[in-house]
Amino acid sequence: MAEELHIASGSKEERYALLLPQIQSVIEDEDDTIANMANVASILHETFGFWWTGFYRVVDNELVLGPFQGPLACTRIRKGRGVCGTAWAEARTQVVPDVECFPGHIACSSRSRSEIVVPIKHGEQVVAVLDIDSEQLATFDNTDRQWLERLAALLADKQLGK
Ligand code: SME
Repeated sequence: MAEELHIASGSKEERYALLLPQIQSVIEDEDDTIANMANVASILHETFGFWWTGFYRVVDNELVLGPFQGPLACTRIRKGRGVCGTAWAEARTQVVPDVECFPGHIACSSRSRSEIVVPIKHGEQVVAVLDIDSEQLATFDNTDRQWLERLAALLADKQLGK
């Protein structure tokens, strides 16, 4: 698999709709979790121009930094800490329009202004989170939530995170 990604354009909705089948085709023949996380982070980051796009994996009861695109990030996050640790503890997506208003937000970069974190679940168990940061306030809304949760389900089907 070495095909070039067709960078989707148009509305946010249109871009996600074009992107998901492409992501599916990129990951369907590869079973390695890290390789698939790396390509998914790249595809999302290139398409939307986010500030930081990446994964944290649940390893020995901590979130540990996985493949990402963007600047240096903290490597370990405890359950319930920050936006990522909260998404893990509550096993549900966190949409944060202004990170300064989220109690306990972990500022890996002072340029991050808004954030979305989507858990990847095998059954009820969170095995990883997808974390996306933006330099603008209120970048993420229900459209992002819905499409990224679909993406998380696709990744979970692929046993990603195991
Ligand atoms: N802001 C996150 C930490 C991870 S970085 O944004 C890459 C949080 O509060 O969990």
